[in-house]
Amino acid sequence: MEFNLSTDIESISWKELACLFELAPLGKRREPEILEVAFRNSQLRVFAFHGAKLVGAGRALSDGVWRAAIYDVAVLPEYQGKGIGSKIIRHLIDAAKVDVIMLYAVPGKSKYYERFGFRKMATAMAIMPNEEEARKRGLIE
Ligand SMILES: CC(C)(COP(=O)(O)OP(=O)(O)OC[C@H]1O[C@@H](n2cnc3c(N)ncnc32)[C@H](O)[C@@H]1OP(=O)(O)O)[C@@H](O)C(=O)NCCC(=O)NCCS
Repeated sequence: MEFNLSTDIESISWKELACLFELAPLGKRREPEILEVAFRNSQLRVFAFHGAKLVGAGRALSDGVWRAAIYDVAVLPEYQGKGIGSKIIRHLIDAAKVDVIMLYAVPGKSKYYERFGFRKMATAMAIMPNEEEARKRGLIE
C-alpha cells in the first residue's frame, strides 16, 4: 500500500479527522471545530493519506530552535502496523529541528516511542484538568 504524507491543512476535513481520533481511538471525543483550532495553532502538523482517504495524523508545538512537544498521533485501526505512525513521528521529529522533543504517551505506548529515541523523563511534570482521573489512567504518580 502506498501512503502519502501531507502538511496541507486547507484540504483537511475536520469531521473526518475527529472520526479518525474516535476510531483510533485517542482520548475523548473531539469536536471538529476545536480540533481545527488545535491543529491550526500547532506549528507542525502532518496528515497521512491512502489515496484520498485520511488514515493518520499528528501535530507538534515547536519554538523552532530549542524545544518541541508532539501530540495527537493517531492512525485508523485498519491501517495500524503498516509503518504510518512511524512515518508521522519521524516527520515531526525532523521538521521540529530542535534539540529536545517531549511527548506524553498514553499508558502502554512508552515502549513504542522508545524506538524513536524517546526516554522516560525523571522530572517531567504536568497540571492535569482532572488529577484523580489522570492518576487512575496512569498518567501521573
Ligand atoms: C500508536 C499508533 C499511532 C502507531 O501507529 P502505527 O501506524 O500502528 O505504527 P507503526 O506501524 O509505525 O509501528 C508499529 C510497530 O510498533 C509496535 N507497537 C505498537 N504499539 C506498541 C506498544 N504499545 N508497545 C510497543 N510496541 C508497539 C508494533 O508492534 C509494530 O512493531 P514492528 O514495526 O516491529 O512490527 C497507532 O497504533 C494508534 O493510532 N494507536 C491509537 C492512538 C494512540 O494510542 N496514539 C498514541 C498516543 S501516545
